[in-house]
Amino acid sequence: MTLFEALTAARRTIDRLDARLLLQHATGCSHNDLLARPETPVSTTDSQQFMAWVERRASGEPLAYLVGEAQFRGRVFEVSPAVLIPRPETEVLIALALERLLGLAAPRVLDLGTGSGIVAITLALECPAAAVVAVDLAAGAISVACANARRLRAPVDFREGDWFAPVAGEAFDLIVANPPYVAAGDPHLTRDGLPFEPQLALTAGADGLACIRRIVAGASNHLKPGGWLLFEHAHDQGAVSRNLLTATGFQSPATFPDLAGSDRVSLAFFQSGAIMSDVQQRIHSTVTNNPVVLYMKGDARFPQCGFSATSVQILKACGVSDLVTVNVLADEEIRNGIKEYANWPTIPQLYINGEFIGGCDIMKEMYQSGELQQLLETVAQA
Ligand SMILES: C[S@@+](CC[C@H](N)C(=O)[O-])C[C@H]1O[C@@H](n2cnc3c(N)ncnc32)[C@H](O)[C@@H]1O
Repeated sequence: MTLFEALTAARRTIDRLDARLLLQHATGCSHNDLLARPETPVSTTDSQQFMAWVERRASGEPLAYLVGEAQFRGRVFEVSPAVLIPRPETEVLIALALERLLGLAAPRVLDLGTGSGIVAITLALECPAAAVVAVDLAAGAISVACANARRLRAPVDFREGDWFAPVAGEAFDLIVANPPYVAAGDPHLTRDGLPFEPQLALTAGADGLACIRRIVAGASNHLKPGGWLLFEHAHDQGAVSRNLLTATGFQSPATFPDLAGSDRVSLAFFQSGAIMSDVQQRIHSTVTNNPVVLYMKGDARFPQCGFSATSVQILKACGVSDLVTVNVLADEEIRNGIKEYANWPTIPQLYINGEFIGGCDIMKEMYQSGELQQLLETVAQA
C-alpha cells in the first residue's frame, strides 16, 4: 500500500484532515512527503496501525486520544483519556489572565481543575514571574499534567485533591479555572466524541453550575486583597456567573466572548481579600481542621431552628459520622463572623474540607441530585 492508497482508503470513512494527520502520525511522514511522494510504500506495521486508528476515528474516538497529543496555543500537550482534550476557546481564559498578571512582581496563581495542565503550564511559561499551583481531583490528570510540565520545562506545583482542599490557608493573586460545566443530562454528551472524555471533566450537576458555585464560594478565602477570579463557562452561563460573583461579594463582574462570539469567561476581583480578623481565623481553623462542619443554631441533638434541624437530618441521611457542629447561638462573635467569612447572610452553613458549600436550601438541592453524597464520599475516601 502507498501513502496515496492509504489516504484514499481512509477518506471513505473519515474526514480528509483527520486521515492526513493519522497517516502522518502512523508513518512519521510530513505533509510535504504526502504531497510530493504519494507513491512511497507504507510498511505493513504502519498500515495496520493506520487502519486501526481510522476504524476507531470512524466510530467517534477523538483524534487527540488516538495520537496521544493535542495543540494548545502553539504548544504540543500529551493527552490521554484521563484528561479533557484542550479546546481553543480556553485561550480566552489565558489572554484575560495574562492581562491581569501584567505588572505584578511575583504573583501567586492557582489553576483549579488543571486536567492536562494547559492553563497552568501556559501561564507559567508566558508569565515567568508567576508562581503557579495547579489542582485536580483526578490522579490520572495530575500525572499527565506533570509529564507535560516536565517536557515543556514549566515550573508548576501540581497537587491532587478537591478544589481548594490542597491549598488550605494559602492566598493567591489570581485564581483561574476551566471547570466542568455541562449539565448532567445534556444531549451533547452523547455526541462529538464527548462519550470518550472523562465525565469528571465535563459534567457538573443537574444545571451544569455545581463546580462553578463551589469555586465562586471558596475563592474569596484564597484571594489576596484585589485578587482576581476568572473561570470558563458555557455560552448560556454568563449572567448566572456574574450574579453568583456579585452575591458572593466580588466586584466588577464581567463576561467575555470567545472567537465565535459566545459568552465564555467571567471574571471579577475581590477587594477585601483573605485578610482575616481573629474570629475569622478561629472559623478558618475549625473548617480547615475538620472534614465536615455545620455552623447551626443549637447542636446536632437539639437543633434550635427548622433549617438547622433539616441540615442535620440531611447530613445524617448521607451517613456523615464525623460531623462537627458549632452552635452560633453560644457565641455572638462567631454568629456575625461566620456570615462575613463565607459572604453568606444566613445560618446554617455547611463546610466540607474547609470549603463553604451552602445553606439549607443548597444542601437540600445537592442531596436530591446526589451531589452532596458524592462530595461526602470523596471526603470519606481522603
Ligand atoms: C473541563 S476540565 C479542564 C481541564 C483543563 N484545565 C483544560 O482547560 O483543558 C475540568 C477538570 O476539573 C477536574 N475536576 C473535576 N472535579 C474536580 C474537583 N472537585 N476538584 C478538583 N478538580 C476537579 C477534572 O478532573 C478535569 O480535569
